[in-house]
Amino acid sequence: MNGAADTAAQRLGAELAGQGWGIDHAFLPASLVAALRSRIGELDAAGAFRPAAVGAGAARAVRPAVRGDRLCWLEPPATADERLFLGRIEALRLALNGRLQLGLFDFECQYAIYGPGARYARHLDRSPAGAERVVSVVAYLNDGWTAADRGELQLYVDSDRVTVAPAGGTLVIFESARFEHEVCPASRERFSIAGWYRRRARVPAPV
Ligand code: OGA
Ligand code: MN
Repeated sequence: MNGAADTAAQRLGAELAGQGWGIDHAFLPASLVAALRSRIGELDAAGAFRPAAVGAGAARAVRPAVRGDRLCWLEPPATADERLFLGRIEALRLALNGRLQLGLFDFECQYAIYGPGARYARHLDRSPAGAERVVSVVAYLNDGWTAADRGELQLYVDSDRVTVAPAGGTLVIFESARFEHEVCPASRERFSIAGWYRRRARVPAPV
């Protein structure tokens, strides 16, 4: 990892340790943001995106009023650009583990497209079904985002809110079990990669 990226990872680690969340407004270079967005275009043209569902078990359903994005898992074989992205995420994982002893052992992520007006209502990423998710990670892939475009991530921190604009290159991380958050509707298409650093699933104790 180069010096600048190393410093950024250390800073994110310090923020996560101190307050449970952290933001880097320049985690990804513009060239990688553009490449990943064009990858989304290819995958979408190939029909790889599916409407996101909410709820668990028999209640699982697509409910656009609650969650209106479309998703595609970022899975092997990854492209060269995806490997670059995953390499930075891996370097950050090592930095977080070195500082926090979180036992983060892997990362899963998906591309998300929110059409104009689509939202994701206030929620927590750690459901009983997703108990291995320890740290949520969102990377934004939008060029020239302005405040008028809306589409903010609102993170509920104590009685306050932290507002994150989905500007290309920005990365936000937060403790999955601790912070409810929501995606506000945007006036234009909104692209991101949402993922989770996970710990190992608990093996039931022997009886
Ligand atoms: C999610 C999520 C936030 C965002 O995918 O679970 O909360 O800003 N995404 O896209
Ligand atoms: Mn979420």
